[in-house]
Amino acid sequence: MSQETRIPPGIDLLAEIGRLRKERNAVILAHYYQKPQIQDLADFVGDSLELSRKAAETDADVIAFCGVRFMAEVAKILSPQKTVILPDMDAGCSLEDSCPPAQFKAFREAHPDHIALSYINCSAQVKALSDIIVTSSSAEKIISQLPKDQKIIFGPDKHLGGYLKRKLGRDMLLWPGVCIVHESFSETELLKLKAQYPDAPVAAHPECPAYILDHADYVGSTSGILSYAKAMPGQRLIVATEPHIIHQMQLALPNKDFIGAPGADGNCNCNICPYMAMNTIEKLYIALRDLQPRIEMDESLRLAAKKPLDRMLDMASGTVGKGDVGARD
Ligand code: 13P
Ligand code: SF4
Repeated sequence: MSQETRIPPGIDLLAEIGRLRKERNAVILAHYYQKPQIQDLADFVGDSLELSRKAAETDADVIAFCGVRFMAEVAKILSPQKTVILPDMDAGCSLEDSCPPAQFKAFREAHPDHIALSYINCSAQVKALSDIIVTSSSAEKIISQLPKDQKIIFGPDKHLGGYLKRKLGRDMLLWPGVCIVHESFSETELLKLKAQYPDAPVAAHPECPAYILDHADYVGSTSGILSYAKAMPGQRLIVATEPHIIHQMQLALPNKDFIGAPGADGNCNCNICPYMAMNTIEKLYIALRDLQPRIEMDESLRLAAKKPLDRMLDMASGTVGKGDVGARD
């Protein structure tokens, strides 16, 4: 039986979620890639770094995490005394899948003179094997604090790693993982769109391949792209990241035009993250009602994964957004 079929018929889901969040003293955190309906009812919508900070700071008893599993795990690692629920425990991430802990451990051991920086899109086990965690909004700031001659292993996203390596001129060995969503953008279709709207700049997430980033006027995290949209003088923006972020742009700038970058056939849904899309209002209601599915973690793993996350929070502290990967040189 699926989760939804256990919902009493005729129930007002939004009212029930409102009642349960109060009763449970729950905070609802949502990533920008969540469906608009979920973004609209969340207490806070943000990028990976902002959501980690919120999870570490909240005085709620329950964190209902509307994002993917590694994000909810981070909330549990930083706030172990809280109950952390995720509407669908199968909401994974292709980057996490690309990096099995045993293989990452062997990779690390083969390069003992390298520091291991891991993108937050990885399992708790891989975090525990890493020296510092980064997000797309904190990576550049964190790497800039490392000695220039420090050799770096970067995983699991080869596109973000490649972008940082090119931009910062650092010695970085890259794990060969990709995000299936950002990998699906088509350069040919993007060029057609740029020809159709020559006045529109392109803002891209650094998880995109270099052949997409090469056409971007701005490269940054989800929150960075949102700030760019708010600051740009023009009327139109081409957005090369998961299209649900456009919801926040439309709320903030209803008179501007935001166009999602196309996939290979010019009109596919392949740039919608299938993992983020697993969370629904129905599953959120059930999670708040039953306090399940819930993130549980072995304490020794939690402590080992917390160390590199704490380093990230320390090194990224300061003005959020200023440490973003930022405008291309
Ligand atoms: P941000 O940190 O930019 O929100 O990215 C998270 C993510 O999973 C992008 O695919
Ligand atoms: Fe993972 Fe890509 Fe989905 Fe982000 S968009 S959660 S990187 S699969």
